[in-house]
Amino acid sequence: MLFPVLLSGWIEIPDGGQMLNGRGFGKAFVTSQTENHAPVVKILQPLQQATFTWNALVPFDIRVSDAEDGESKYQEIQSSEVLVKLKYAKNSAMAAAFLKQKIFPDTAGVAGMLVSNCFNCHAVKTKLAGPSFQDISRRYPFTDKNVDLLTAHIQKGSTGIWGKEVMPTHPELAEPEVRKMVKWILRYTDDPGLNFFVGLQGTLPLNKTEMYRHGGYFIVTALYTDHGTADDPEKKITGSDQVILRVK
Ligand code: HEC
Repeated sequence: MLFPVLLSGWIEIPDGGQMLNGRGFGKAFVTSQTENHAPVVKILQPLQQATFTWNALVPFDIRVSDAEDGESKYQEIQSSEVLVKLKYAKNSAMAAAFLKQKIFPDTAGVAGMLVSNCFNCHAVKTKLAGPSFQDISRRYPFTDKNVDLLTAHIQKGSTGIWGKEVMPTHPELAEPEVRKMVKWILRYTDDPGLNFFVGLQGTLPLNKTEMYRHGGYFIVTALYTDHGTADDPEKKITGSDQVILRVK
């Protein structure tokens, strides 16, 4: 699909819902077990190429439809398992470059966080019961030692480092899975032009910061990873959709 962007050129927008996680897709073909169908994710709101002013609070509404998991319109999809990525690009060339990137490589760690309870207490840029992931990534540079330390704190629980609130233990999570979560937090949450939200519905704040004096674009990506099939819950496939917004 080609969409005109300003007068300066065209941005190619991949057909989101059809992009499949290569691994899951390949497996679905070679196995004799029941095939897992890819979830179809659709961003109903905001509309493709809508224009907003800086600091607008833009409502989002996402529909997920998965042959095995069900339909979001019948409340069969967990809202807490839908990830919405909001990426700022200051010009159409940067937006186009971002749209060409693969959508999935950075989702390994966050996928586990979506099915666990992390986002009940943490948001990426704002403090909830727990500190924001951005504050955590600023306090702990990405080193092996810090990955070990934070992995242990998540597994064993923690209190007193950030305040009086308590993070409960997570004995149900295997260490390699928690390490992936920590790496995702330390790698992706401190970028001022990148934010993440969770839910089928919510609000995207198009926050203006010092860096962005001019207009630009926000690319909204919605992702849902399914639960495989009854035969093989590990045979997961991620579906996605993308819209590009203009801000001025
Ligand atoms: C019930 C609320 C709650 C849940 C659920 C929760 N956290 Fe926390 N988290 C907190 C609080 C509160 C702190 C601060 C603890 C402290 O001050 O020592 C924290 C701290 C952290 C830290 C920083 C630890 C440190 O040593 O500074 C990381 C990383 C973290 N959480 C990740 C996660 C991940 C990943 C999950 C999901 C597996 C998760 N949290 C689930 C409340 C929660």
